[in-house]
Amino acid sequence: MEELTIAMPKGRIFEEAYELLAQAGYQLPKELDDSRKLIVEAPDERIRFILAKPMDVPVYVEHGVADLGIAGKDVLLEHDRSVHELLDLGISRCYIASAGLPGTKLDDVTPRVATKYPTVASHFYRSQGEQVEIIELNGSIELAPMIGLAERIVDIVSTGKTLQENGLVEYEKIVDITSRLIANPVSYRLKQDRINLLVSRLRKQVSE
Ligand code: PRP
Repeated sequence: MEELTIAMPKGRIFEEAYELLAQAGYQLPKELDDSRKLIVEAPDERIRFILAKPMDVPVYVEHGVADLGIAGKDVLLEHDRSVHELLDLGISRCYIASAGLPGTKLDDVTPRVATKYPTVASHFYRSQGEQVEIIELNGSIELAPMIGLAERIVDIVSTGKTLQENGLVEYEKIVDITSRLIANPVSYRLKQDRINLLVSRLRKQVSE
């Protein structure tokens, strides 16, 4: 049996992805759950996990150092990578939305939009016929309207708590997001049987 390398996101997607693989019958090492190790072996399964930042998962898969990866659709929409999307895992459900201070309208002069998703945000405003200036940030996006950096943000909404606690309101829902199983195209060809088995075991869990 050939070894499979799977890039897993650290952070909030991790727990749900770990749970899904365990439910699909994979014997996962406990240390994957609670250590700071970045590479973890599951020798019984001949699987090696790489623990990466969510945005970096498709990079490892595109370059073929990981055969498979678990990536949010947000990340896949933002950067066009040469990877196959094999399965919607239905986990880590959330959406991308625009938000801002209550009762504010977009300026006639070019409004500013702060986001971690410049591609998604520019496509969205272009499709609305709005010309905006995109300001790219790496996190704590909700700060931008509060301190006058931007009139709108485009960001992930999960529970809506972050918006609420910072006195912001949602304006437009842009796209629904879930996590996807992705594959390197060459790995998929070379390790098709193993990968298809994993896909069918996961699909069974997802549809239950
Ligand atoms: C994400 C997102 C929002 C928040 C939404 O941030 O950017 O800030 O979660 O979740 P909620 O609707 O449940 O409040 P994350 O925690 O990933 O950190 P970041 O600010 O560093 O992007």
